[in-house]
Amino acid sequence: MSAAPALHRSIPARPRALPMAADTGTAVAPILAAEHVSLRFGGVRALTEVSFEVRRGEVFSIIGPNGAGKTSMVNCISGRYRPTEGRIRFDGADITRVPTRKRAAVGIGRTFQNLALFGHMTVLDNIMVGRHHLLKHGFWTGMPYWLGGAQQEEIRHRREVEEIIDFLEIQHVRKATAGTLSYGLRKRVELARAVALKPKLILLDEPMAGMNLEEKEDMARFILDLNEEWGMTVLMIEHDMGVVMDISHRVMVLDFGRKIAEGTPEAVLADPHVRRAYLGEADEVVHDLDEPVTA
Ligand SMILES: Nc1ncnc2c1ncn2[C@@H]1O[C@H](COP(=O)(O)OP(=O)(O)O)[C@@H](O)[C@H]1O
Ligand SMILES: [Mg+2]
Repeated sequence: MSAAPALHRSIPARPRALPMAADTGTAVAPILAAEHVSLRFGGVRALTEVSFEVRRGEVFSIIGPNGAGKTSMVNCISGRYRPTEGRIRFDGADITRVPTRKRAAVGIGRTFQNLALFGHMTVLDNIMVGRHHLLKHGFWTGMPYWLGGAQQEEIRHRREVEEIIDFLEIQHVRKATAGTLSYGLRKRVELARAVALKPKLILLDEPMAGMNLEEKEDMARFILDLNEEWGMTVLMIEHDMGVVMDISHRVMVLDFGRKIAEGTPEAVLADPHVRRAYLGEADEVVHDLDEPVTA
């Protein structure tokens, strides 16, 4: 099989080296581990005994046909769903029962499959939302006695947010109402908001869904840079095979709620189980698997 296509000139198609511990050359300890996770909705088995690990510093992608359980898995990690069986470990701790609202503080950030911005608020306000857990000076400590500290913190806070705005190239719309922006820009603002919470792990559910090629290329580049320059660990669900192949260190494939393959993008694409699972999919996907489209 030929190599995956380069999505963009600035994103070379390449096998990405796995993050290694500098001192020993061994694989880095996992930041996230799903252990035998099962999830049922009444009679529907959304997930069955799924186990996998995401290493610190890697881009790990989950792929699979519609209804395979990808979003359910991410929802178990974000705390939106509680696994019927099994455990989720994050950064050494069992977080299976940690409520969603506390997972940002634990270090897990996310974007959603469908847009979830406050349409009537500005881009800047959307990004500021949810950062309160990063502020040491809350209501009480914000009293006049502490004003100096709180002000310094506010300055640092704003500087960090501006860095993220620069990084995601949304300076020109920072004061715009989020609801008035193009779809691609709104997705980028959503990413900015998730990044602004300074997560150790960011969960991206179909970050490029509904985007045109140019928007996809931009988004792929931002995700790569987040990973390589900001050192963020990324767990991503994505349908676009070219993107998955280009930016993932490793890929897990779900089918009917079960893990059917895991490994480097090349190994997963060559796996007969994976090819069979995708044969039931749209022609376009089969085509993607068989002969990469050259841009
Ligand atoms: N909240 C829910 N209630 C009932 N069934 C659900 C719910 N969420 C997901 N499912 C079912 O679980 C299965 C996996 O869905 P999902 O995780 O959304 O798949 P994917 O993201 O891979 O397309 C599907 O059969 C879906 O209908
Ligand atoms: Mg989904």
